[in-house]
Amino acid sequence: MDVKTIAVMGAGTMGHGIAEVAALAGFNVFLRDINDQILSRAMDNIKWSLQKLHEKGQLREDPAQVLSRIRATVDLAEAVKEADFVIEAAFEDIDVKRQIFTEVDKHAPPHAILSTNTSSLPISEIAAFTSRPHAVIGMHFFNPPPLMKLVEIIMGNATSRETLGAALDLARRMGKEPVVVNKDVPGFIANRVFLRLSDSACLMVERGEASIEAIDSAARYSLGFPMGVFELLDFVGIDVMDFIARAMAARGVSRVPCKLIEDKVKAKELGLKSGRGFYSYP
Ligand code: CAA
Repeated sequence: MDVKTIAVMGAGTMGHGIAEVAALAGFNVFLRDINDQILSRAMDNIKWSLQKLHEKGQLREDPAQVLSRIRATVDLAEAVKEADFVIEAAFEDIDVKRQIFTEVDKHAPPHAILSTNTSSLPISEIAAFTSRPHAVIGMHFFNPPPLMKLVEIIMGNATSRETLGAALDLARRMGKEPVVVNKDVPGFIANRVFLRLSDSACLMVERGEASIEAIDSAARYSLGFPMGVFELLDFVGIDVMDFIARAMAARGVSRVPCKLIEDKVKAKELGLKSGRGFYSYP
């Protein structure tokens, strides 16, 4: 499949980063969200990121040229009508996904592949909102998309081998390292493994066995993580990881209750985005 045009649904943290990565790889990109304010913030963030990459000599062309391949729009039908590949990165709510996938299915060309960047919802459930479940697949990027190499490619129950091949090819053309998740399992790979780790870390702190800082130092300087466990929770959003853990629990992956996380969510100390989480961000 010769992909030329990609439509990204949702211009939040993940959506705008994915749109940037797609434009960097030379694709024509439509970036869609529900209002101009969100889109304008997204384009500012993309400009900032491209400038950073440019300053470090990591761009082969002018940032303005990359930017010129991205068209921001609030019109869903316009965004997907020429798309060969759609990547949905909207809010993690099954009703929002239902609305988007129903509309995208209606307006995207019949050959278009529809993918979702969901981190917590079943691919097969999302695929069932469309008339083409064989052409629906999970493409889970990591934050920040321009810097993180991994993309999890998740098979739904009905996803075809052709769709898998096209998703792998696209991820590689976007400069990513795709890994295939053969079954539509809760949490896929990275979140499933990370939640076990963060559960253990939380329990150790709750029992007074080690401090947050000590655990983060162990993660950085022995386990080889680029960020400590609590630093990463702050970076991703404590509420986001809590939501993912709840979604996994609802699908049968047992959860260790962690008061430390519950208290942070209740106090709205959600990490980097709220200025305070396990650490403070002036
Ligand atoms: N675009 C361009 N440049 C960026 C950027 C972006 N989006 N974000 C950060 N940078 C820049 C920084 O500004 C910084 O630039 P300077 O050198 O000019 O200061 C540079 O990249 C390096 O950043 P830092 O010095 O802050 O830190 P770093 O070297 O540790 O790299 C990191 C940053 C790549 C984020 C690294 O810390 C890392 O890999 N952290 C782990 C991230 C991770 O695990 N993400 C996955 C989260 S889970 C998820 O996303 C999925 C889910 O389902 C929730």
